[in-house]
Amino acid sequence: LVLLLVALGLRSRRPRSFPPGPWALPLVGNMLSLDFNNLHNDMTKLAEQYGNVYSLKMGPVWTVVLNGFSTLQEGLSKGDHMSDRPAFPIHTDVLPDLGIVFANGYSWKQQRQFALSTLKYFGVGKKSHESSILEEFRYMSKEIASHKGKPFNLHFLMKNAVSNIICSLIFGHRFDYKDEKFLQLITLLDKGVQIEGSIWAQLYNAFPVLMRRLPGPHHTLQKGYRDIMDFMKTEINKHREDWNPSDPRDFIDCFLTEIQKHQDKRDDEPDACFDEGNLVKCSFDLFGAGTETTSITLRWGVLYMAKYTEIQEKVQEEIDSVIGQSREPSMEDRPNMPYTDAVIHEIQRIGNVAPLNLPHMTNRDVQIGGYTIPKGVIVMPNLTSVLFDKNEWETPNTFNPGHFLNKEGKFVQRAAFIPFSVGKRVCLGENLARIELFLLFTSFLQRFTFSMPPGVEAVFKPRVSIFLSPQPYQICATLREE
Ligand code: HEM
Repeated sequence: LVLLLVALGLRSRRPRSFPPGPWALPLVGNMLSLDFNNLHNDMTKLAEQYGNVYSLKMGPVWTVVLNGFSTLQEGLSKGDHMSDRPAFPIHTDVLPDLGIVFANGYSWKQQRQFALSTLKYFGVGKKSHESSILEEFRYMSKEIASHKGKPFNLHFLMKNAVSNIICSLIFGHRFDYKDEKFLQLITLLDKGVQIEGSIWAQLYNAFPVLMRRLPGPHHTLQKGYRDIMDFMKTEINKHREDWNPSDPRDFIDCFLTEIQKHQDKRDDEPDACFDEGNLVKCSFDLFGAGTETTSITLRWGVLYMAKYTEIQEKVQEEIDSVIGQSREPSMEDRPNMPYTDAVIHEIQRIGNVAPLNLPHMTNRDVQIGGYTIPKGVIVMPNLTSVLFDKNEWETPNTFNPGHFLNKEGKFVQRAAFIPFSVGKRVCLGENLARIELFLLFTSFLQRFTFSMPPGVEAVFKPRVSIFLSPQPYQICATLREE
């Protein structure tokens, strides 16, 4: 037993030249000393003690945490040595294909490029696509107005509406807000994201052999992911029935054409992974990534407006003077609306939707901050450490649109504003998300005034998963014409 303990103790020692960090216990590493409901703050605090590059052990797995703007820039933007993703057993056990978000190497480059060019082909960033976002707002507005200023929870309405924007691009159609099957799907995604950020997922990734046999919410997550994949398969099969390669309607049609091209060439490029399994996974990735983050950001936005009514009024004044009430917003309005733009940026900064980014992994030995990180080590670029850095922001813990305005009231871009991350893995949907946020947020406040129900205080303590989202809340939305 003594020998075993000594061996385990030796195994949990840091490799030479590895970044420092708290002492790791044999087997569990640092997992017991971390609060998984507050991981982003724990990780930011540890940087004060161990510096901007430090290491932790998650069970038997070494993880390096990067903190601060210049360290993240150095790690993610200079070259691609930290642009791989780790393979997590909780995913690979149920999602065998690569997709985009967790793909690496040649396949990732091909799929990322293909997804970006397909989104562009279907008008993302162009006027034609703006109108489909505004059309979704019209559906949403009807639904919000039906509550006649009485308290309601817009959690699933926001998710459904935002999801419809990416679904129209993937599947070529939207889903009705009363569509039970679709509601089930976004509920599964909601639950999945919640469990992903919990200790259960961390335990599964650290001890997969054991966790596969133990009951727990990790199985609910995996069942949910399987169900979402089945939904994608059904949509793909429906597409096959009336697919016309010369008239693609959406991402799935374009991918089917690509599969055929690769088959015709007798696939001299198998590593690009244009096959049906990967179509399912890529659709899954775009659906998941395009639904959660943007809808959470908008829910933060509505909550902040209900709390800071004077800021809401200033945004509405700007909307009234630049757009008025007789036409819908357009992206061309953004340069003329510095205050609204600053408010949206501040919502994203303080909302801190992806607090620890997505995990990265080194694909060769890397030198950073005077340390050596070997190939194959997990890297967590801590976005919280940048978005709340007191050296970057005048009042990091206060909702202050002034962070993005100069003395003359003009909008100023800030380098440390990186909610979409930086470098080769930067959010693929950044352009789409920025358009959605501007058009939907502006449309909300053009049409409605938001307030908390009488006697209810806004709560800003987030619900923690891999994302930080508002706790479910009730809101009143009054039509502005009234
Ligand atoms: C990746 C944030 C909206 C698709 C990411 C990452 C972040 C992020 C932090 C990880 C970057 C990294 O690993 O360094 C956000 C935020 C959004 C948003 C804050 C909205 C406010 C969207 C939308 C889409 C999308 C609308 C839909 C197309 C993706 C994809 C990836 C990604 C596919 C993986 C990229 C890759 O691994 O190459 N996003 N995102 N995101 N995002 Fe977003």
